[in-house]
Amino acid sequence: MAVPFISEVKRTHTCGQLTAANIGEEVVLFGWVHNRRDHGGAVFIDLRDREGLTQVVFEPDSKEAHDIAGTLRLEFCVGIKGKVLSRGKNVNPKMKTGEIEVKASDLTIFNRSEPTPFLIEDNVDTSEEKRLSHRYLDLRRGPLQRTLMTRSKMNALTRQYMNGNNFLELETPFMGKYTPGGARNFLVPSRLNPGKFYALAESPQLYKQLFMVAGFDRYFQIVKCFRDEDLRLDRQPEFTQIDVEMSFVTQDDIFTIIEGLLKKLWGEVLGLDIPTPFQRMDFYESMAKYGNDKPDLRFGLEHIVLTDLIREHGAAGGVPMMWDAVQEKGIVKAMVVPAEKALSRAESDKLEEFAKQAGAKGLARAKVGEGGEWTQSPLSKTITPALRLAINQACNAKTGDLLLFQFGRESLVHTVMANLRVHVAKKLGLIPEYGSGGQWKFLWVVNPPLFEYDDETNTWAAAHHAFTRPHDEDVPFLLTDPGRVKCHRYDVVLNGFEIGGGSIRLHDPKVQSEVFQALGIHEEEARTKFGFLLDALKFGAPPHGGIALGMDRLVMLLTGAESLRDVIPFPKTKTGTDTMTGAPGDVDEKQLRELHVRSVPLPAK
Ligand code: AMO
Repeated sequence: MAVPFISEVKRTHTCGQLTAANIGEEVVLFGWVHNRRDHGGAVFIDLRDREGLTQVVFEPDSKEAHDIAGTLRLEFCVGIKGKVLSRGKNVNPKMKTGEIEVKASDLTIFNRSEPTPFLIEDNVDTSEEKRLSHRYLDLRRGPLQRTLMTRSKMNALTRQYMNGNNFLELETPFMGKYTPGGARNFLVPSRLNPGKFYALAESPQLYKQLFMVAGFDRYFQIVKCFRDEDLRLDRQPEFTQIDVEMSFVTQDDIFTIIEGLLKKLWGEVLGLDIPTPFQRMDFYESMAKYGNDKPDLRFGLEHIVLTDLIREHGAAGGVPMMWDAVQEKGIVKAMVVPAEKALSRAESDKLEEFAKQAGAKGLARAKVGEGGEWTQSPLSKTITPALRLAINQACNAKTGDLLLFQFGRESLVHTVMANLRVHVAKKLGLIPEYGSGGQWKFLWVVNPPLFEYDDETNTWAAAHHAFTRPHDEDVPFLLTDPGRVKCHRYDVVLNGFEIGGGSIRLHDPKVQSEVFQALGIHEEEARTKFGFLLDALKFGAPPHGGIALGMDRLVMLLTGAESLRDVIPFPKTKTGTDTMTGAPGDVDEKQLRELHVRSVPLPAK
């Protein structure tokens, strides 16, 4: 008689659970046929579920089950009942359940499977596009299952930790009012309000501040955010933040909470005790040494700023290109590739190619010879011995070192040198592999400027958003010298990725209005843009601040995944599409009419 699997005969164990301790037990397992071997007589399968694999054997003495087993194919979904046996000398130490096998007495096929477009294996060489088109099959693979299980655990740990620290999990709308600035928003047309649009929230920023005004004191949310940005390995158009806001706190209080959370995640998921407090670095120091505000501190290759040196030596230094750059308000930077990691001439030429791809005009280089002279360098012909010596000293250069130089517009020099630093580190094998020791370099980057100068419009713009609190001692310079005003904004960085960012907010209407003035935002404009927040701040808003961590990036780094697409169940491709569902897709004219929207064909090129 057929065994009534599921309705009466329930699963007793998962496929990753049985060990020698279970030998002799009757068990029921459900799962998918991961592989199948027919040894004439006995049929073997590995049965798979999210917890692992169990070897199941069908012997001719259980005739019905054995007959059905003969028809099994990969990815059939089945149930088995049987007895746990020792594998004796055939123990497989690589499998969690390798000590045992289950000798099946009963087998049922819940559902058959067509041949899958690719094999469900840990390592597949199928293109990502094909895998994403059948993501439900891709998600059956071990690495993705483990990653998403880790992600689920991280969500649970986060909630546990935040609840334990008296945070309330409160929800905020996804559909809000469009406010300019920040990331580009996705817009949603309103059927009930012709011609009007909602914006999908790029973050819950304004709402979480309103929670503070409302007196909720400590808020968090694991929340989806939407940004219509150009996509990269570490960017998705919809992504998840661990969003946090707190009242009556300093920057240090926020750091302590976040460090505690990250310590818990790394501790409970990886069993690692990450040291706290994290290192802190001034924004300007980070820019000078690493060319960006998210440095990877797992390796050195620090930049050396030579701008002052070149200025001191002036035209007489004998490097007109560097001198010109300095005179045009540019900067000069160097980086040393140490002699022991010698690069061949051809390899160093390839670095120039790389620099050009990053936007540089070229990459000046010099090899340091015995006695400090420079070889393999056009600079060596004109540079004065005094400047050469000074540069060698500033760079702490030894015989055989290769010096790389960039000079010109500040932002370009920083970007090129930042990219070059990581590129060279990869080339020289300086970046520790995932799973090796010492690879977690957490860092707070602090004290950035409040404003950035926009060369194109010749105006000051808020470097982050207009509600960031300036340092008290810089407030007198808001209107007289905005460039020197630093603020309470901070980013938390891990191994070259910005994993979170936030700020202490402005709650003082007087300072707020000066910031708007410095930004050239008139009162009326401020009201249209941020009216409700400005109003709210007038009613006894508490001092407050917050941060948001990028959950997807945390999962990516913690699991050693290479892209956000490997840690999001249903991600978008580089061009923002979902090849499985076909999103974004066409809609018919009627729907558009209802939404009061007209689609306009692209102009002919
Ligand atoms: P911010 O814009 O810095 O701050 O975002 C916080 C963190 O979210 C992650 N992140 C992303 N992850 C994946 N894909 C994206 N497109 C993406 N964009 C951002 C990053 C980033 O550090 N409201 C403020 C926070 C605050 O001030 O409290 C905010 O959203 O890891």
